[in-house]
Amino acid sequence: MTRTTYPLSVLMCSPEHYTVEYTINPWMHPEVPTDGSLVMKQWESLRDTYERLGVDINYIEPAPGLPDMVYAANGATVMDGIAYTASFRYVERQPEGPLYADWLRSAGFRVVEAQAINEGEGDILTVGATVYAGTGFRSTLESHQELREVFGREVVSLTLVRPEFYHLDTCFSVLDGREGSELIAYLPSAFSPDAVAELQRRFPDAVLVDEDEAGVLALNLVSNGADVVMPVGAAKFTAALEERGFRTHLLDLSELRKGGGGIKCCTLTLR
Ligand code: ARG
Repeated sequence: MTRTTYPLSVLMCSPEHYTVEYTINPWMHPEVPTDGSLVMKQWESLRDTYERLGVDINYIEPAPGLPDMVYAANGATVMDGIAYTASFRYVERQPEGPLYADWLRSAGFRVVEAQAINEGEGDILTVGATVYAGTGFRSTLESHQELREVFGREVVSLTLVRPEFYHLDTCFSVLDGREGSELIAYLPSAFSPDAVAELQRRFPDAVLVDEDEAGVLALNLVSNGADVVMPVGAAKFTAALEERGFRTHLLDLSELRKGGGGIKCCTLTLR
């Protein structure tokens, strides 16, 4: 199958102030040191890959004291020219919401302030016309209702059940987000039985990923419909994608995984 690309426009935040100094997910161990120069190199390898693929990259200024701000995907949900703001579950990340909102406002998006707790594209992913929204750890069902009101789209709630896959983007990937050619990958065991049934019904062709490969955050990837930017260490998943006609671009973001994030987490899509 020949795959075609679609244009991507993204927002990224340099890991200048990244460290692991608190624990809000099971990946985070403040006693394990992070390497500031290595994390910068790894993040730059992601940025360089996007540049090579012709992705339109925008940058937000990193703020001191907000070590998780590098995970730009959590900053908002941006679609149809509207930015629905993030309202973070944990106090440590709460100041990030307004910083992302300010950036988006000055970039010309119509900013709608969330009333309900939600962590942006960490939990809210669009495939075709439909929004898939995670809940169980971070974003609330109330935020899914707000999404329906703000975007006027169908929103499918998916309950997450495993603490190490606390955000939807750690266990669900959008391989092709275009209407008519929707394709996803996911880790079934990260979802409640109801959510798995819903995913099976909607995506009978989905790529299913193994435990061990999801465990390197292999599902935390970015695709333009033909090129998949994903982590090293998931040989079976990589082969499955190549078999389906995708070109894979493998990166090592091990330092960012210490915070519980990967490629997608560092990337907010602007639509
Ligand atoms: N330490 C961050 C947190 O727990 C990691 C966020 C990862 N981002 C993501 N989109 N999954 O909030």
